[in-house]
Amino acid sequence: MKITKAVIPAAGLGTRVLPATKAMPKEMLPIVDKPSIQYIVEEAVKSGITDILIITNRGKGIIEDHFDRTPILEDALLNGNKTELYKSIENIHKLANISYIRQIETKGLGHAVSRAKNFVGNEPFVVMYGDDVIIGDTPATKELIDAYEEYGKGVLGVKSVPENEIHKYGSLKVEHLRDNIYNCTDMVEKPQTKEEVMSLFAVLGRCILPPEIFDILENTTPGAGGEIQLTDAMRELATTVGMTAVEYSGTRYDMGNKLGILKASIDVGLEHDEVKDGLREYIKEIAKTL
Ligand code: G1P
Repeated sequence: MKITKAVIPAAGLGTRVLPATKAMPKEMLPIVDKPSIQYIVEEAVKSGITDILIITNRGKGIIEDHFDRTPILEDALLNGNKTELYKSIENIHKLANISYIRQIETKGLGHAVSRAKNFVGNEPFVVMYGDDVIIGDTPATKELIDAYEEYGKGVLGVKSVPENEIHKYGSLKVEHLRDNIYNCTDMVEKPQTKEEVMSLFAVLGRCILPPEIFDILENTTPGAGGEIQLTDAMRELATTVGMTAVEYSGTRYDMGNKLGILKASIDVGLEHDEVKDGLREYIKEIAKTL
């Protein structure tokens, strides 16, 4: 079955980026000139996704405004002959069919995803974690969809992380199949001891799940941090039918983290036609003083 639906959990409080996120949703923090959630929506669209559900919460209303039309601004740009600027906004509301649902309670990623049950129906779907922006020539979601079509199992987007960071992620037990593809047979969310770490491969920002995940989530009890963890529900899939892990080719930026935001801004800025020359000069200049 062709995958056309994506769910973007974007309901978190953004505490690691306070005070910037006191009134501003972290998903709206910009990377150069676009809010981070627009990069995620664009990745989905480039991967063949047509329908997106964004899971929000109180204070996230401007995400909806961003993907809506802005007739007054559009008219002002057109009347002022600001064609380039007009082009930068004219298609944002046409990117995909985007709907929204509030999580209501902040009980973890697994709980947020369970809110997508009616939207998803009986189809496999993509989960694109709202904090994780992935930039690369081939969209990461497309790489995962290709693996789903080949192996017919749930798929995890993964990367290897440094040993001293694996405790922040979902750690996977994997066997290499070929190239960048692995079979995943077990996983653990936020391993606290060396013994608990299954490998340095971490779930990083993307997965494809079968609709059976919703029944599993209904019976998933709170795990790490007292939250209903998506990893705990996916573990049930991995240990029974198995999952496929794909080491995607793009670079992942943690937009829930100050350093991640700065790295994304620099990397994207160095490729951005309008600012790349000035930014390169500036970086060279300050590098001399570091
Ligand atoms: C979440 C997931 C975790 C994953 C991480 C990065 O953790 O629970 O499995 O490895 O995102 O995508 P969080 O960053 O919300 O603590």
